[in-house]
Amino acid sequence: MSPIVVVLNGPNLNLLGKREPEIYGRETLADVEADCRRVARELGLQIEFHQSNREYEIIDFIHSARERAAGIVINPAAFTHTSVAILDALNTFAGPIIEVHISNVHKREAFRHHSYVSGVASGVIVGCGTQGYAFALQRLVKLIGAKKG
Ligand code: DQA
Repeated sequence: MSPIVVVLNGPNLNLLGKREPEIYGRETLADVEADCRRVARELGLQIEFHQSNREYEIIDFIHSARERAAGIVINPAAFTHTSVAILDALNTFAGPIIEVHISNVHKREAFRHHSYVSGVASGVIVGCGTQGYAFALQRLVKLIGAKKG
């Protein structure tokens, strides 16, 4: 059985492609999901891909990943900068976590420079566009030690 990786996306990422394309690009979340599925197949991972605008749903997805998933990729979007509750949920997850931000948050407003999630993440990928998700899966496969096939 291939290891399961859960890919989580926070608020407003459902509007990817339409929302501030000069910052986030023109690719939609469906494009990102398709790319993640293609990369996951190549790496021998199974992925579950979710987006929610609701903090409690992200927390529920993290709880449901416990005991089942080998790793988590998370772009918490604006919750990155606000949510102790998501940090607490991630702290209950035993496997590696990779945090992804499409934009370079460090080049942007000061309130985006702090992340509650980075303290629990094994790695953080920032400013690599939507390609950051593929990088995150590649890193997770190393950390999990999954073998293809
Ligand atoms: C983001 C950066 C956050 O500051 C912002 O609130 C987002 C997206 C990114 O992917 O660059 O919604 O996480």
